[in-house]
Amino acid sequence: MRHLIDPLDLSVEEIDRLLATATDIAADRSRYAAVCTGKKLATLFYEPSTRTRLSFEAAMLNLGGSVLGFATADSSSATKGESIADTIRVISCYADICAMRHSKEGAPLRAARYSKIPVINAGDGGHQHPTQTLTDLMTIRQRHGRLSDLTIGLCGDLKFGRTVHSLIRALSRYENVRFVLISPEELRVPDYVIHEVLEPKGIAYKEVTSLEDSMPELDILYMTRVQRERFFNEEDYVRLKDSYILTPAKMALGKPDMAVLHPLPRVNEITLEVDDDPRAAYFDQVQNGVYVRMALIMMLLGLSGPQIAEQGKGEE
Ligand code: NCD
Repeated sequence: MRHLIDPLDLSVEEIDRLLATATDIAADRSRYAAVCTGKKLATLFYEPSTRTRLSFEAAMLNLGGSVLGFATADSSSATKGESIADTIRVISCYADICAMRHSKEGAPLRAARYSKIPVINAGDGGHQHPTQTLTDLMTIRQRHGRLSDLTIGLCGDLKFGRTVHSLIRALSRYENVRFVLISPEELRVPDYVIHEVLEPKGIAYKEVTSLEDSMPELDILYMTRVQRERFFNEEDYVRLKDSYILTPAKMALGKPDMAVLHPLPRVNEITLEVDDDPRAAYFDQVQNGVYVRMALIMMLLGLSGPQIAEQGKGEE
């Protein structure tokens, strides 16, 4: 049985296949409408979410399956003191696959150890968010036609931003990728990302504080919000929250084919005027998020696609 806890749980070849399936789905979703008939997805969300939970649900519904779950920890038995291990044993009796978001780093990994169904990490604390990464990879490939030979600027809260950690891990496997890590001193990328990912693989990176100075060299600008809920005190958040605001004036410094990504939600870090710039790709990411999650659900359930479903029918 397969789980997706860390982006590196999928090989480069599997990611290629998954993105190819997602692209095929994007071309005509209706062909996939019965691939998951009779299957159930459970969404176990102990932390707030709009896109991730609803895109998982939309993905399963698009595949003809059904969904069940909870959207807040206080509507689950976690408030009664139930452990993750017990909860997942129970959910394994109700559903065929599940997506879990939790404020504790490592919670989905622990769940996977006790689960009888595939577990997908839908975000664990300030750690990883592998399905957002699949969305990001699909969007980068749509914009640039490749995942190699790119200079990627990651800007904002690189310390607590789990989407950043997962994206760096995933992109570190492609040739000639360079990172420009743009953050205030206090929100630099965690040491483990540098010591376990960037340095061992000899990946070119630099840590800088100025977004303007970095703009001209970037193929991708990945903006992030300052993660208020992970701060220890409100004063630090207030001081750092508007460190970077992307405006049309700053966009003018960027390459004509640069793409701006953001996992959303946006707070203040991209002004609304930037939405009209053709280089803004963050709403494409939202759409792609449904397609990659459809492809992922199929992959983890061992379902290959509409052809197989149709062949299966013929054999009955
Ligand atoms: C991100 C997350 O939850 O980590 N949101 C998302 O899933 N698209 C980013 C964020 O909350 O800032």
